[in-house]
Amino acid sequence: MIILGIETSCDETGVAICDNYKILASYNKTQYIHKKYGGVVPEIASREHEKFLPQITKRVLKESKLNYSDLDAIAVTNGPGLMGSLLSGVSFAKGLSQGLNIPIIPINHLEAHLNSVFIEFGDSIKPPFINLLVSGGHTQLWIVQSNSKYNLLGETLDDACGEAFDKGSKTLGLDYPGGPEIEKLSKGGNHKLIDFPRPMIHHKSYNFSFSGLKTALINYIKKNDKYSPNDVAASYQEAIVDTLVIKLNKAMDDFKIDTGIICGGVAANKRLREKLKQLDKKILFPSLKYCTDNADMIAFLGEKKINTKSVKTGIDFSAYSRGIVL
Ligand code: KG4
Ligand code: ZN
Repeated sequence: MIILGIETSCDETGVAICDNYKILASYNKTQYIHKKYGGVVPEIASREHEKFLPQITKRVLKESKLNYSDLDAIAVTNGPGLMGSLLSGVSFAKGLSQGLNIPIIPINHLEAHLNSVFIEFGDSIKPPFINLLVSGGHTQLWIVQSNSKYNLLGETLDDACGEAFDKGSKTLGLDYPGGPEIEKLSKGGNHKLIDFPRPMIHHKSYNFSFSGLKTALINYIKKNDKYSPNDVAASYQEAIVDTLVIKLNKAMDDFKIDTGIICGGVAANKRLREKLKQLDKKILFPSLKYCTDNADMIAFLGEKKINTKSVKTGIDFSAYSRGIVL
């Protein structure tokens, strides 16, 4: 089965081709245009998707040595995400599906993230896992019971952890996206200097909350005009990382599950990786290209859905986003 996957939920324009669970070609274009605005501008994001989708599709077809007529189905992210961005991808996918007279498969972006680990590790890893999904839009802990059964254990009640990095970076006068900026500035900083809160670590739920942490940072800067940016960045990063590590560890212990998986853009953070290693548990990181938003995971899950004839999964994702009805 040759599946074309399309991902446009936020600011990555992605197209990939999957055949028999192998990615033949993919191109995931980050929209750097948002950098100058300090965050993603939804209207610009959707226009960029519209502009680049046809070119990127041609590129991946050429790389796979395939034609449009070789495609068997189109898989497209239909939610959750920025509405305009999703619409750009879905409209493009619908056009292709109608023009080529092939099926279109709606894909939940979160379910695709949970499945991205199988692209690389295939059958060599077996559920159950605890999956920590950490991105600019999400901070969630999932229990993956089987290849198609997932349950949400907890999620952020306000800001996502990536957002905490992004907003912290802005507060410190740094660029967007904030995660890599804070990580860079943390180097050489003393992470023990400021005891920023580790929100909700003693709460019995698996939920997170990062908006108070951002306020703590703002208050610290207001009160200490001669602060050391390196120390502040290192301490702030440490508070986010500790919170994630403590919650993942608790979920793994509570459910007696010995494998943890980290995905989402924040998984790039080296301090997070270092502290997870210190847990002395089996923690898997998909390659970064599969951690961040990508069309590979959309095409891959599309093929799985066709082969298992399942449109429904173990969880009703409509609670998180209805998605665009195709
Ligand atoms: O998954 P992703 O590429 O896009 C979505 O949000 O869906 O994640 C982007 C987020 C941003 O908030 C960015 O600041 C964060 O991931 N990020 C990092 C690092 N690299 C990217 N956060 C911490 N440390 C990093 N090295
Ligand atoms: Zn994502």
